[in-house]
Amino acid sequence: MQFEKICVLGLGYIGLPTASTIANQGVQVIGVDVNPVIVDTLRNGGLHLHEPGLRTLVQAALASGKLTINDKPENADAFIIAVPTPFYGNKQADMRAVKSAAEAIVPYIQTGNLVILESTSPPRTTLDIVAPILAKSGLKPGEDFYLAYSPERVLPGQILRELIDNARVIGGINKESAEAGKALYAIFSRGEIIMTDSTTAEMVKLMENTYRDVNIAVANEFSRLAQRFGIDVWEAIAIANRHPRVKILQPGPGVGGHCISVDPWFLVEAAPDITPLIHTARKVNDSQPQVVVDLIQRVAKELKGCRVTLLGLSYKPDVDDIRESPALEVVSILAEAGTLVTVYEPFKKAVDLAENVILAPSLEDAIRNTDVIVLLVAHTQFLELEASYLADHTRCRLLVDTVNGWRAPEWTSTGFKIYRLGVGKQA
Ligand SMILES: NC(=O)c1ccc[n+]([C@@H]2O[C@H](COP(=O)([O-])OP(=O)(O)OC[C@H]3O[C@@H](n4cnc5c(N)ncnc54)[C@H](O)[C@@H]3O)[C@@H](O)[C@H]2O)c1
Repeated sequence: MQFEKICVLGLGYIGLPTASTIANQGVQVIGVDVNPVIVDTLRNGGLHLHEPGLRTLVQAALASGKLTINDKPENADAFIIAVPTPFYGNKQADMRAVKSAAEAIVPYIQTGNLVILESTSPPRTTLDIVAPILAKSGLKPGEDFYLAYSPERVLPGQILRELIDNARVIGGINKESAEAGKALYAIFSRGEIIMTDSTTAEMVKLMENTYRDVNIAVANEFSRLAQRFGIDVWEAIAIANRHPRVKILQPGPGVGGHCISVDPWFLVEAAPDITPLIHTARKVNDSQPQVVVDLIQRVAKELKGCRVTLLGLSYKPDVDDIRESPALEVVSILAEAGTLVTVYEPFKKAVDLAENVILAPSLEDAIRNTDVIVLLVAHTQFLELEASYLADHTRCRLLVDTVNGWRAPEWTSTGFKIYRLGVGKQA
């Protein structure tokens, strides 16, 4: 199958790099987003999200004239849907964006086209939600046009490289659809392209993230046990991982982001009667911010009125993505308890936080006048902080480290008292 023009719906962390990468291969790409601010920003040469190398990639694609930005689709050979799939407050999948993107394609789809859903979705979404919507065009999915699901598995911070190098799964609603999908990704993918059916491809993505969530939950429970039994969980994990068949993941303040903290719920919702382990793991990880606050309380003695500085808001190191971040939950539990919270997030200059929470413009501002400093995210900038630098810029000497980022001896010899998550024997 030949592709002269491809329409990418959703210009976020996934859609924008995908659209730009394809355009830079010389294929005409229409990037579509329903958010007018994003459309305007991109058209004016700006960028609405942070990802290393993305600005250069997008600018090259726009400058070549191969990428254009629009607020609605147009006729094309292929349509890629990369819109958000969050969940509602009750943890049920919110499929409104996928449905509306599929609806938006209906007037433009033609015989011989290919439609690919990339959004992470509950099992059978391609067959039970997307195919019936597209069939409203009068064309039959799988017969008149190809339809496939291809999960995105890139790591934020490394999206541009992984988009090209990662192995890719293409699940067609029939063999021909999988083959058409393979031809599309062959435009830019250097990784292996594995063909399967659409529901298997949907499950593969959900299983990968659920596997990680469950494994992080067990690491978090180990950290709680370590605190109770007076040992250092980080040391215990390092020793256990010397076993040739053991690979325990790292505990931390919880699990966030658009993927791992969300996707397992899609399985729990789809089959609640047979997913007790997955459900429990979610609850363990969601309760980890409270464990962090309990530790802060032990250090601060009294949360009410105490000045606490939180370093990092994003859900993982060196990215600006704060979606579902456990750090936000730590902020809100503390603020609720009357703690005077100051936050410093180097990758984000504006965030909607509770009224009484201060978002500091710089690290120096954040730490100047505080009682407890809490390391919540292992941003490189924080890990590289010298104890002597911190000592010179704050009178605070109480540190809480939730990510095992600060080696205790260096800090304690500078006069800090450091409390690490998952460590029952404190230095
Ligand atoms: N971000 C990641 O690292 C990552 C990794 C793997 C999978 N995913 C999955 O990929 C999908 C997209 O994620 P993302 O991080 O790019 O989301 P995002 O929120 O960064 O971007 C999605 C974009 O889609 C736009 N949009 C919403 N409805 C639309 C519609 N009907 N038509 C056109 N545009 C629309 C939004 O305005 C937004 O700009 C999600 O299902 C996510 O779970 C994300």
